[in-house]
Amino acid sequence: MWSFLERLLDSSTFSPHGICLLWEPELIWLHVISDAIIAASYFSIPFALAILVSKRRDFQFGWMAWPFAAFILACGLTHVFSIYTLWVPIYGLEGLLKALTAIASIFTAVLLWPLIPKILAIPTEAQLREAHIALAEEERQRQHSEFLLERFREAEVNENKIRQAQKMEAVGQLTGGIAHDFNNILTVITGTIDILAEAVTHNRQLTEITALIRDAAERGASLTRHLLAFARKQPLQPSDVDVNALMVDTIELLRPTIGDHVDIDFHPMPDLPRALVDSNQLVTAIINLALNARDAMPKGGQLRIETRTAELKPSDVHGHDGLAAGDYIAIALIDNGQGIAEADLAKVFEPFFTTKDVGKGTGLGLSMVYGFVKQSNGHIVLDSELGRGTRVMLYLPRAAAVSPAAVPEPRQPEARGAQEIVLVVEDDRLVRSYVLTQIESLGYTTLSANSGAEALAVLDSGAPVDLLFTDVIMPGAMNGRELATEAERRRPGLRVLFTSGYTENAIDQDGKLEQGILFLGKPYSRAQLARMLRVALRERRTRLAQVPAE
Ligand SMILES: Nc1ncnc2c1ncn2[C@@H]1O[C@H](COP(=O)(O)OP(=O)(O)OP(=O)(O)O)[C@@H](O)[C@H]1O
Ligand SMILES: [Mg+2]
Repeated sequence: MWSFLERLLDSSTFSPHGICLLWEPELIWLHVISDAIIAASYFSIPFALAILVSKRRDFQFGWMAWPFAAFILACGLTHVFSIYTLWVPIYGLEGLLKALTAIASIFTAVLLWPLIPKILAIPTEAQLREAHIALAEEERQRQHSEFLLERFREAEVNENKIRQAQKMEAVGQLTGGIAHDFNNILTVITGTIDILAEAVTHNRQLTEITALIRDAAERGASLTRHLLAFARKQPLQPSDVDVNALMVDTIELLRPTIGDHVDIDFHPMPDLPRALVDSNQLVTAIINLALNARDAMPKGGQLRIETRTAELKPSDVHGHDGLAAGDYIAIALIDNGQGIAEADLAKVFEPFFTTKDVGKGTGLGLSMVYGFVKQSNGHIVLDSELGRGTRVMLYLPRAAAVSPAAVPEPRQPEARGAQEIVLVVEDDRLVRSYVLTQIESLGYTTLSANSGAEALAVLDSGAPVDLLFTDVIMPGAMNGRELATEAERRRPGLRVLFTSGYTENAIDQDGKLEQGILFLGKPYSRAQLARMLRVALRERRTRLAQVPAE
């Protein structure tokens, strides 16, 4: 092997290549310059490859650059040797270099061929552009689908809201109807029981029975009030209310009932604008909500009450008829009690829905609050999570910047009449005969009519009448309000006292009594009737005094 190499590298017997070219200078330089240019070009290629690979490290076949660079470098060297052998005959060394170049070329070719299909699989620029367009289209379709899905979800939520509102509306109407008739019956019972009680004072057993009837009638009356509140048919007297002050008083009232085991934490917003709401009903609503919170925290807890201004957005009021987007006064009651199961959440506002034991809850608390808030043109939102607690938000309309003057409380009137003449208009026979007896027993003279037309006939007959006491809802062409208008046209200055189990918008706007209207809600006790009759007749005298003498 060694001797073979020695023989190969021994160049003493060879002539330089220039001799073959007869040392012709043009030929010699043609070879030299051509080989030099080829070699320089070959040598530049590995540099270019090195720069390429170092700059594009993500290039998939970058490793291929190194065997390729070695092969090119070897090719370049063979041309350098071609120049050298023009003068120095080192053909053995040149042959060895060519052999190395041949090995590098085989190695490179063997590596390169299998790569061809992979390199061909790399997408061209045009293919990439197409893929990009397809991707953009796919993205657009995805966004469109997401948009449709969102719309669909919104529609579903709104549909649920509307369905729930319709259900509450239907239940409300049914409840209102029942409560109305029930009220008439209760009016008779509540009003006559006092007469009966007075007559049986000597008999202990009968006195106890009358007390039982009175209690039962009072419970019935409270139930009907709740039902009417839910049905949005209770007469409301909204006024400008300082909600913070009202909450302080209500919390004071609540503390003994709620008990020491529940902390009431009140956070009023300073300078809270006033709300336009019936303050008595608002107190009742807050008490109901606080009692619910107490019942949800039998082992104690915290009831946080906040007041603030809040905005209802169009999306919040969607599906709620008569509810306008805008600024409201918000009252939040937040407890950390047992919370409400998701399945029950949709039912809690329904009348008679309760999870409490028989005798512990009527299921009318939240429905009353719901009806009252809706009738007040407000909104109620209840969030709850089982085991975490419940948050009830009441949104009440804001009072106008300039508030109307408050109606002064009428002075305590004397209970009995002085034979003034009261024209009683009532379509229900039972109630009419009770009211007539009741009014007469209070020291008045009565006239009666069972409809608007009959009452007008009495007035047209010229009979003296001091007060028109009329039911609001009456069958026939004329309701109580229309009768009052007609009667006042015939007898200017005639005072009118309205009565009803509910008002059905006949003397009120959305259940809110107009200013100056005298109204006695059914069922009423004898004392309430006596008081309202005096208020009505006193008002009449004041009014007549104001009419200039003709
Ligand atoms: N803050 C609350 N935490 C947990 N559950 C509540 C809360 N408020 C209401 N609930 C649930 O809603 C139901 C209905 O409440 P609602 O006030 O209408 O009736 P009630 O409290 O059961 O009876 P009532 O108020 O007539 O005495 C309750 O029985 C209770 O299951
Ligand atoms: Mg309750």
